[in-house]
Amino acid sequence: MFRLPSYLSLDSLLIPGESERHNEGVKRRDFLIGAGATGAGLAASNVLGMGASTQKSRPSGNKSVAGLKVPPMEKVRVAVIGVGARGSGHVSQLCQIDGVEMVAICDNHMPTLERSINNVVKNHHRTAPTAYGKDKDDYKRMLDRKDIDCVFIATPWEEHVRMAVDAMNSGKHAFTEVPAAYTVDDCWKLVDTAEKTQRNCMMMENVCYGREELLILNMVRNGVFGDLIHGEAAYIHDLRSQMMEIEHGTGSWRTYHYVKRNGNLYPTHGLGPVAQYMDINRGDAFDYMVSIGSQSESRALYAAANFPEGHERRTLKFACADMNTSIIKTKKGRTIMVQWDEQLPRPYSRLNLLSGTKGCWSGYPDRMALEGKGLSAEEWHEGDGLKPFYDKHEHPLFKRMGEEAKRNGGHGGMDFIMLWRIIYCLRNGLPLDQDVYDGAAWSVVAPLSEASVANRGRSMDFPDFTRGEWKTRAPLDNMTNA
Ligand SMILES: NC(=O)c1ccc[n+]([C@@H]2O[C@H](COP(=O)([O-])OP(=O)(O)OC[C@H]3O[C@@H](n4cnc5c(N)ncnc54)[C@H](O)[C@@H]3O)[C@@H](O)[C@H]2O)c1
Repeated sequence: MFRLPSYLSLDSLLIPGESERHNEGVKRRDFLIGAGATGAGLAASNVLGMGASTQKSRPSGNKSVAGLKVPPMEKVRVAVIGVGARGSGHVSQLCQIDGVEMVAICDNHMPTLERSINNVVKNHHRTAPTAYGKDKDDYKRMLDRKDIDCVFIATPWEEHVRMAVDAMNSGKHAFTEVPAAYTVDDCWKLVDTAEKTQRNCMMMENVCYGREELLILNMVRNGVFGDLIHGEAAYIHDLRSQMMEIEHGTGSWRTYHYVKRNGNLYPTHGLGPVAQYMDINRGDAFDYMVSIGSQSESRALYAAANFPEGHERRTLKFACADMNTSIIKTKKGRTIMVQWDEQLPRPYSRLNLLSGTKGCWSGYPDRMALEGKGLSAEEWHEGDGLKPFYDKHEHPLFKRMGEEAKRNGGHGGMDFIMLWRIIYCLRNGLPLDQDVYDGAAWSVVAPLSEASVANRGRSMDFPDFTRGEWKTRAPLDNMTNA
């Protein structure tokens, strides 16, 4: 039975007199109560999660996993669940990292599973990992094994949480794709399970390992931008063509999230790096946010133009706004704009803007203004003019791994650096760069945005997944222990 927390009761979600007028294109009440999703596999969903509570006390016996260190592993024995578009890349890259043993692979789509096993044997000359996937729960049989340390999860969004929770409960460290979860309750489930089991649960936000993002992080640490005031993040990526995937593949499940949900549905690629620049959960924290969406036209137009009369895709009614704009306020007073648009025909962008009292980096295309050195609205550094700053502030992790990462590919090398760094930390007994609190705080933007959009942009409080520890935690060590 669905229960809202008291301050988010159905009545409290409505602005007085507004219940009849809200017009975001979603039947809000149906959505909140969790109407069954249209189409394949998407579990009944609602804005804040079943029985959602934005703040929770720590269950007795659990303890914080901030800075969690586990004993160094000589070999890291891994399993991967979901080897479609994303997971197949993880398998290939993990096979190229020293110290990784690929023990098992699970995918319940047989051709995909077989392709992945063959890839390990033929392209990477390794012993065939054990295959799992006779049904959607076969990953549990795999988790019964005692010879697996870490499970990498690259399945559809609706599978992440149960798989990560089951992995941790079986004693494995969980590495999940983005977003880690898309209800408030599920974010808490990840936090509580990590704290109960004292296992790592990392959402693999690869963009934090991009060359520009690492450079900016290093420049922040070197004081180049002064006090940080404002950030802008986005996932603007025309992915409409995924709708052509009907039986299997990304569009076969992701399309139904756009049908049922209206919010900032994929916030973490842009937001993760900005959160790291600003020491979110390590000195600052997200406080509250507001979110507004445009009308929804683009996906229906795409379906009408690309599918024959009578095709199921043409019958879908898309809830998601073509463009969502959300604004986060942090406890220290900073602001972060987060945009999401996976359907308008426009150039790719994550914005990646960071503005401080001494200067500003603005991405897509990269430009930088610095107080006293090429500043102001008329003058800035760009193109070759940025080279001296790369020479001076290139991040140590990129200096060490950049060339190898370029050779191994994966979004310009960021994927390889992330996986290499995870394995490095595990083999050296170091805390990971992103923990369960980060994954939860960055992911929870999606359900909070949905609640805000459904209520004419009303502000929504962030849960504090660290339960106050953000105030005393040291900043990220800048990943310099590489
Ligand atoms: N970080 C990035 O840059 C990035 C890029 C692309 C996708 N992703 C994320 O990766 C995840 C996967 O996306 P994708 O595009 O690869 O999707 P996909 O549909 O191509 O792959 C998902 C795979 O999971 C398998 N699967 C589904 N349910 C399963 C179950 N119960 N047991 C075993 N296997 C199961 C499917 O058969 C499929 O092969 C998503 O969370 C997505 O957001 C991240």
